[in-house]
Amino acid sequence: MRIGIPRESRRGETLVAATTVTAAQLEALGYDVVVESGAGVAADQTDAAFTAAGIRVTDADEVWTSDIVIKVNAPTSAEIRRLRRGATVISLMAPGRSPKLIEELRAQRVTALAMDAVPRISRARAMDVLSSMANVAGYRAVIEAAHEFGRQFTGQVTAAGKVPPARVFVVGAGVAGLAAIGAAGAMGAIVRAFDVRPEVAEQVESLGGEFVLVEMEQEVSSDGYAKEMTAEQEAATAAMYDEEARNADIVITTALIPGRPAPQLITAETVANMRAGSVLVDMAAANGGNVALTQADERVVTDNLVTILGYTDTASRLAAQTSQLFGTNIVNLFKLLTPGKDGELVLDHEDVVQRGITVTQEGESLWPPPPVQVSAAPAAAAPVARPEKVVKPPMDPRRKLFAAALAVVLFGLAAAYSPPSFPGHFTVFRWRSSWATTSSPTSPMPCTRL
Ligand SMILES: NC(=O)c1ccc[n+]([C@@H]2O[C@H](COP(=O)([O-])OP(=O)(O)OC[C@H]3O[C@@H](n4cnc5c(N)ncnc54)[C@H](O)[C@@H]3O)[C@@H](O)[C@H]2O)c1
Repeated sequence: MRIGIPRESRRGETLVAATTVTAAQLEALGYDVVVESGAGVAADQTDAAFTAAGIRVTDADEVWTSDIVIKVNAPTSAEIRRLRRGATVISLMAPGRSPKLIEELRAQRVTALAMDAVPRISRARAMDVLSSMANVAGYRAVIEAAHEFGRQFTGQVTAAGKVPPARVFVVGAGVAGLAAIGAAGAMGAIVRAFDVRPEVAEQVESLGGEFVLVEMEQEVSSDGYAKEMTAEQEAATAAMYDEEARNADIVITTALIPGRPAPQLITAETVANMRAGSVLVDMAAANGGNVALTQADERVVTDNLVTILGYTDTASRLAAQTSQLFGTNIVNLFKLLTPGKDGELVLDHEDVVQRGITVTQEGESLWPPPPVQVSAAPAAAAPVARPEKVVKPPMDPRRKLFAAALAVVLFGLAAAYSPPSFPGHFTVFRWRSSWATTSSPTSPMPCTRL
């Protein structure tokens, strides 16, 4: 079968559904892959590179009349009319929000597979394009924030004075949130995060972040997704959001419950009370935003000089990386759809992943699929017996004095026989602190020698 990779028609789109590497991997599964001329340029995938990888570059007509068309964004009405009857089209489709698209695909009698409908189960992780994109987008959100922020993320004490570390507050610790926590921490910021699912606290902490605790009834989710907050939970979290955001330099919001508008968590009043120079990156902008003043795809600067970024294309801003991950997710799907490794696509509706992504087939709408039972909640572990605390006898004060004197002598010897730059390393300090010990960027903070 022939697979066609078209140029994305959405304005400003930089992604492409296959890279030179993933197109060759599809060919290795027995398919004949053709790529529309110029399709990969914005993702650093030139026509020449495709040709060098043995992939045929061709015109739009040949691509759109292929047996299978793979793209990133949902096909437009005009693009659907270019598809052959019986062809298969694979892309993001947001089928739950796109009744018109489903009707057009059904009427064209094509098989439509929605990559954003891959169920979040362990077996399907290798095909989960939403996670791939959210992961890149979370990282990029930190880069966008750093670009706007007027200070560096790492705290230091230098000869020119103290530089406090940036304080980053992340709302929602799903895929994008965890990526943002990791990236901001790696850049030297102090990171705090909150999520309505208490089970993610451990993941936040494993990335070096601090999980913000709110006293309220919180349930471990049974399917890995949050439920809408109760009125009591909303009241309990409102004060926390206000305080955390006001104390932060950068707020990155990613809160979302699939299929619902994004919950509005940061109010206009909170923004009005944030310090000048603070930055909010609202990753939920495409779904209405978690911040009251967000405008999708816009950079808004408030009167009190707080910058709010509502970019919905953060994943596309790292086009080469995202295209490679998207393409690899597609290859993993095709490994499942090509049991004979013979270039023939076989769709098995008995398989929950394949059924879950099938939106239309042979003139029929198959949306929505039957629900998939997933469980993200870890089984309740048996209480672990803690070892008895071992109390060491206090050290003899004479031994303590001797150890300190020995350390001073050793340091002196090392300094005497080292290059002149050696003592200079001890004049730069990195902050290690939590917001609990820092009420403002200028307040004294404990520091650690590098
Ligand atoms: N801008 C872009 O280019 C881009 C790219 C990918 C994803 N996104 C967006 O990023 C957001 C996050 O995506 P994701 O894949 O990480 O989703 P996810 O489902 O993995 O994470 C969302 C998290 O929000 C939490 N949450 C829900 N309601 C909350 C609340 N009231 N308070 C605190 N936490 C709450 C959930 O428990 C979950 O952990 C989505 O809005 C998605 O559309 C944007």
